[in-house]
Amino acid sequence: MTRARRSPAGPVPPPARLRVGVVGAGRVGSVLGAALAAAGHDVVAASGVSTASAERAARLLPGVPLLPADEVVAASDLVVLAVPDDTLPGLVAGLAGTGAWRRGQLAFHTSGAHGLAVLAPAEERGVLSLALHPAMTFSGGPEDVARLSGTAFGVTSRPEHRAVAETLSLEMGGEPFWVAEDDRALYHAALVTGANHLVTLVAEAADLLRAAGVDSPARVLGPLLTAALDNGLRRGDAGLTGPVSRGDVGTVAGHLATLAERAPDAVGAYVAMARRTTERAAAAGRLKPHEAAPLTELLDAAGQDVPR
Ligand SMILES: NC(=O)c1ccc[n+]([C@@H]2O[C@H](COP(=O)([O-])OP(=O)(O)OC[C@H]3O[C@@H](n4cnc5c(N)ncnc54)[C@H](OP(=O)(O)O)[C@@H]3O)[C@@H](O)[C@H]2O)c1
Repeated sequence: MTRARRSPAGPVPPPARLRVGVVGAGRVGSVLGAALAAAGHDVVAASGVSTASAERAARLLPGVPLLPADEVVAASDLVVLAVPDDTLPGLVAGLAGTGAWRRGQLAFHTSGAHGLAVLAPAEERGVLSLALHPAMTFSGGPEDVARLSGTAFGVTSRPEHRAVAETLSLEMGGEPFWVAEDDRALYHAALVTGANHLVTLVAEAADLLRAAGVDSPARVLGPLLTAALDNGLRRGDAGLTGPVSRGDVGTVAGHLATLAERAPDAVGAYVAMARRTTERAAAAGRLKPHEAAPLTELLDAAGQDVPR
């Protein structure tokens, strides 16, 4: 948890019907804006210049005017900052430079990677600032609003602002849990490892199945991957099956040979994941040292041949 210090924003205001401004009517901003409207708040303005943002706003925030970001902030009691991670620091500081922030406002950003530090320019102007990250994947469709129900929100806030963070998360259908400022990047790396890399793994597996003549990879992968996910979530490393968990070096060597011939782009990821799987299986006691060693040797040799 961040070290407690008194907020320049002063005492926590009671929950109320708030004028909400959404800076960035993107995949997340438009959905959270719709959720806050459903909770009884007034979404008074949003920003976004691309056609995609304008269309999302029309769909999910009907009737809400699109304005420049500083005007959105000026019109709002609660500002939702839902812009790309790398854009956030410059945006918050830039808004401070225009004098858009004012004492007593609430603001939260939706970045998993950032904590409170990025909001310092707003906080210094008396804005009660929060990091509320929905641990969910959004495409900006109407189904995303329903998906918010029960979504875990990774929250970083000053201790005295926890009640506000909790109320806002619950109002959007989320369930807050607390992430320390210093753990924010690690927290986000964990989610990216699980959710984003999973999509790449699934797409890669589907391509390999197609190359092997399987017409409907999703039919094959759906039940298998669902069961594997369930095993992993419930049992961790103990849920592992497959050649690495059995120490079947010959099978892994065969995979490497056929991938090198028929899907060379897939070798690097296979080697990296098989090596990590070996390390984790050994650490969990699933593989004895004499079983892990030949696998490690094979994968190290194969890794030398992977083009960078
Ligand atoms: N998508 C997810 O699954 C997901 C899940 C959880 C958290 N998040 C976080 O939520 C944040 C937004 O992600 P997203 O996926 O919603 O992004 P997105 O769909 O690309 O939307 C970004 C929005 O920010 C606007 N924007 C871009 N640069 C800007 C700037 N300099 N000033 C003002 N507005 C700007 C864009 O407007 P234009 O369209 O006009 O460029 C767009 O409306 C990120 O921090 C991300 O990490 C995303």
